[in-house]
Amino acid sequence: MITEKSPILDKLLNDYNQKWDHSGVSGERLARRLSELAEIGLTDEHGSYRIGFSKEERMAKNLVKKWMAEAGLQVYDDGAGNVFGRLAGRTPALPAVLSGSHVDSVPNGGHFDGPLGVLAALEVAEAWKETDFQPNKPYEVVIFTDEEGARFNGGLSGSSAFTGAMDIGQEVHRVDYEGKSFQQVIEEDGLTLEGIQKAKRDMEKLHAYIEVHIEQGKRLEKENMPVGVVTGIAGPSWLRIQFHGEAGHAGNTPMDDRRDALAAAGEFISEVPFLPKRVSSTAVATVGKLTVHPNGINVIPGRVELFVDIRDISQESLDALTQSVIQKAEEIAGRHSIMLECEQTLNVSPMPVDETLQQVIAAAVRQSGLDPVFLTSGAGHDAMVVGRRIPSAMIFVRSKDGISHNPAEWTTLEDCAAAVHVLKNTLESLTD
Ligand code: HGY
Ligand code: MN
Ligand code: MN
Repeated sequence: MITEKSPILDKLLNDYNQKWDHSGVSGERLARRLSELAEIGLTDEHGSYRIGFSKEERMAKNLVKKWMAEAGLQVYDDGAGNVFGRLAGRTPALPAVLSGSHVDSVPNGGHFDGPLGVLAALEVAEAWKETDFQPNKPYEVVIFTDEEGARFNGGLSGSSAFTGAMDIGQEVHRVDYEGKSFQQVIEEDGLTLEGIQKAKRDMEKLHAYIEVHIEQGKRLEKENMPVGVVTGIAGPSWLRIQFHGEAGHAGNTPMDDRRDALAAAGEFISEVPFLPKRVSSTAVATVGKLTVHPNGINVIPGRVELFVDIRDISQESLDALTQSVIQKAEEIAGRHSIMLECEQTLNVSPMPVDETLQQVIAAAVRQSGLDPVFLTSGAGHDAMVVGRRIPSAMIFVRSKDGISHNPAEWTTLEDCAAAVHVLKNTLESLTD
């Protein structure tokens, strides 16, 4: 249970002027829940550490399930670890409208990336309960499991299983950072391979999916707007690259007689930032994860494993940049007489957002007395997986200084509550 001394709760409530506390929406309830979720997997730097399929992710899901049940929703899980809270519609046979996001995090991430989308969707159900509103179509609040992919260098696992896009044949070969197999990890989380394969939902029974998510960029701050309408979602392509050199004695091996894997990797890493602008103005590439083997002060590095995160909003430039990153690695490895291994561990196509849904959200924004700002998402989201099967769209919420995947990630309670109202207006239109 959150104590009053929670720094996150105090900060959220501190500058909240309650202007959005109407029509059943409670900023304080949202703040308390964001704070309570943030306590699960809290790091020494006050970040979040809730890796996919971990006990912390499971604890967070169980906490939200408790709140879902208290809100009167019918709570259930699928075989992939996704969690649903269903509200019956006045016409039960109609296809359901879904809204939610994820509760897993990157290592030492922030407290809004994912949880805000789940809790905003739940807050709408709470507001409907308080105002005795029942939607015509059924409504489901959803938590998609393992969106970030920190466990197996993949991600979007829950939404991929939910839509039938998961290739279990590829997943079973994944090994996590502790050397545990995919099957071992999911079984420790109470899941089975068979259950994951059965998680595919009948898309005929679903009408649309709307995801509230922090922007994780600076555009809304620049426009001085609390919320935005997402027009397209960049696709991520992740490469696992291994530089195989030869470990050796750092003191007794002449400089011209080495195959130093880290020297080659270091040259590659310094070149990566210059590659994206050659394919487009929106492309990005990042090396965020690297391990050196055997990682000894007096040992010439024998092997380096690193991951490159590549993104763009067009498939063509995403593919072109992926190829140029691989070519750069091959060119540098050749110069250092290093053997190279390269594997693509994630490859999700960019997704343009359904135009009709964009307009429904824009109308919902105006209904809240705000002006719609249209923007693309450089970050990937479950909506781009679900959106391949049913109409899906996103409502972005302003990020302070554009910071995310960092304990300093912050969104004011006022902006969170504004997003709840935009989501509520959107859902009342879609569930009609
Ligand atoms: O990596 C992403 O774009 C998201 O945070 N999963
Ligand atoms: Mn994220
Ligand atoms: Mn996210």
